[in-house]
Amino acid sequence: KTPRHFMSIDDLTPAEFSKLVLNASAHKKAAKYGGVPKHLNSTLTGQTVAMMFNKLSTRTRVSTEAAVAMMGGHPMFLGKNDIQLGVNESLLDTSRVISSMTSCMVARVGPHSDVTGLAKESSVPVINALSNDFHPLQIIADFLTIHESIPKGAAETGSIVPKGLKVAWVGDANNVLFDFAIACMKLGVHISVATPRGYGIPKEMSDLITSQAKSTETPGKLEQVYVPEEAVKDADILVTDTWISMGQEEETQKRLKDFAGFQITNELAKRGGAKPDWKFMHCLPRHKEEVDDGVFYSPRSLVFPEAENRLWAAVAALEGFVVNKGNIV
Ligand code: CP
Ligand code: NVA
Repeated sequence: KTPRHFMSIDDLTPAEFSKLVLNASAHKKAAKYGGVPKHLNSTLTGQTVAMMFNKLSTRTRVSTEAAVAMMGGHPMFLGKNDIQLGVNESLLDTSRVISSMTSCMVARVGPHSDVTGLAKESSVPVINALSNDFHPLQIIADFLTIHESIPKGAAETGSIVPKGLKVAWVGDANNVLFDFAIACMKLGVHISVATPRGYGIPKEMSDLITSQAKSTETPGKLEQVYVPEEAVKDADILVTDTWISMGQEEETQKRLKDFAGFQITNELAKRGGAKPDWKFMHCLPRHKEEVDDGVFYSPRSLVFPEAENRLWAAVAALEGFVVNKGNIV
């Protein structure tokens, strides 16, 4: 039987996405009160999770290794210089071999086709740990953070996020944004994206994002603008990410120039008219050009709980896709 893989938030129904966030939340609460949640203790005993990372990582690596350990399994880290994923051996061969000896492959790659290629040949679930197009584990953690941090509105509807939430994404339209926006569409969140001209969401990707409207009766709204202040207007949360994603290092000088004026600051939020109690999020690693210290280290900033939540996102994803074989309950 073909295993169920986790390539993008696009793979989940709105109910499944919400359930992963709620499961992550439940595990976190249980752990805060009594160590490793008992029911997770031995769910991966005797099993190995292969972590094939072609790019650097702090959060994704540590959270995945810690989650596997917490569940009683063995995380096996295979870096760029260990296995040369798709370089010295075809993806097909690597995938068949590694999946014959492990229970799951967690892969961080460049082209998204590398992770879907691995999945195609794998006899075990493959989890995308960041590709050039998507970062689903990050988005579970992000919505857990929103779920925990934003006071619920009076007209609460049973959703994991408050009704009428508006997010402003100011910066580069990248992998993290694409999955974030897909989640927004699924949960009825309004997301306004401000990028410099020429850096907007590619048409194929915005079509995929807006097509999510079909999956729910209460879809969110995607808006694209080129002026940061326009995106920020009435926003509850301001979000950004690096302007130079891994693999784009050669464009550094050009990007720094083109993104001038897109730094998130208290002044920008004020000028644009963000909600008075707006919050800030960033998946990290962070650089000062995209957000200044006045915001990043302020009480508005959710970045460190957001990073910690990566652990609980990894636990929930491993539980859903490996322990429960893709049955998200
Ligand atoms: N946010 C995130 O994925 O961080 P790392 O690149 O450190 O894993
Ligand atoms: N957009 C960034 C995210 C890193 C977690 C990158 O792809 O490098």
